[in-house]
Amino acid sequence: MAATSRARRTTKKPQDLLAQGVAAGNSEALVRRDLRDLAPYIPIDPPEVLSQETGLPPGRIIKLDGNENPYGPSPKARAALASLDSAHLYPDPEQRELRRALAGHLGVAAEHIVAGSGSDDLLDLLARLTLEPGEGVINCEPTFGMYRFVAELQGAQVTEVPRQADYEVDVEAVARAVNGRTKLLFLASPNNPTGNLLSQEQLKMLLGLGVLVVVDEAYVEFSGTPGFASLVPSQPNLAVLRTFSKWAGLAGLRVGYGIFSPAIAARLMQIKQPYNVNVAAQAAAIASLNDTQHLLRNVERLVRERERLYRGLGRLPFLEVLPSRANFVLCRLLRGRADQVYRRLRGRGIFVRYFDTPLLRQHLRISAGTRRQTDAVVAALEEIGREL
Ligand SMILES: Cc1ncc(COP(=O)(O)O)c(C=O)c1O
Repeated sequence: MAATSRARRTTKKPQDLLAQGVAAGNSEALVRRDLRDLAPYIPIDPPEVLSQETGLPPGRIIKLDGNENPYGPSPKARAALASLDSAHLYPDPEQRELRRALAGHLGVAAEHIVAGSGSDDLLDLLARLTLEPGEGVINCEPTFGMYRFVAELQGAQVTEVPRQADYEVDVEAVARAVNGRTKLLFLASPNNPTGNLLSQEQLKMLLGLGVLVVVDEAYVEFSGTPGFASLVPSQPNLAVLRTFSKWAGLAGLRVGYGIFSPAIAARLMQIKQPYNVNVAAQAAAIASLNDTQHLLRNVERLVRERERLYRGLGRLPFLEVLPSRANFVLCRLLRGRADQVYRRLRGRGIFVRYFDTPLLRQHLRISAGTRRQTDAVVAALEEIGREL
């Protein structure tokens, strides 16, 4: 009896340890243990930070690191933002007008559609909706870093199935990696950063695996293909994500959307933050859908510039450039070190994307921008290349 009560007195419950930790000023003790080693998503910096770093005025910064659209919002979207008179009111939590406009744009019923604060929001919501701790996600590296991040945030187990040497998805290896705990497969098409598309045959085989296949089409408007949104009504385990950030020039407003089975869409509507797409974003997105001619002309200009960038970089003997169906190209350095070239470009006010990961350590991803920006980055790389 005495021994038991002594044991009781000396065995600290986890809450006591937590309280002690917090009392000692260690608020880190409050953080979920499985998140303490979470690898962060590495985002890019805005122009004012880059301007401060380089000492150059923001107008002199050449920003080709975020696959943003240098032409910005369409005239109708700008007008909608300028005349916005509802900033003091909460937005429609059901996103009725935006979902209706998207339904018309896509030719898919509104019950399939959910909008988010960027497609990042929808990636996060999908992970929250489907993943229990320890459940499986398949990711095909090299690809967009957000997939691993949102999965790990839910405590899911991420299995990497590397792409083939030509960056095609290794469908057979994905099939082998699926097990009873696998819930989600994330695929970008065009893929970021490799720029290649998933084929309809590959998708069909992957849909047969019975997991939720999330095809992220952030760049589909630059690809010359219609993408897979129209397949969703007949494929309950397919989800397609899109965004206004790239083709419509609204990255800063954060508005994306997804096309899902009605059951998944209804659940996403249930768990999302009620006001996840703000009034400015909803107004600009709807206006963009009424100004597609203008926006698609800008898309064409960017596609032409992507091809100029591809040819310009391709002429430099120290680079191998990959063909791309998105608004960026990936190149591999055959000489020198990519991190050093990246820093030297940065020193000149030219910002491109460098990934410090095993598969991409010798690569740089460069966004398609204006003609002047393409000329500047190609000329700078030509000079830097001579010194390697
Ligand atoms: C493949 C891919 N998906 C999603 C996103 C995020 O898009 P959004 O701005 O809509 O969150 C990006 C952004 O670069 C991306 O490359």
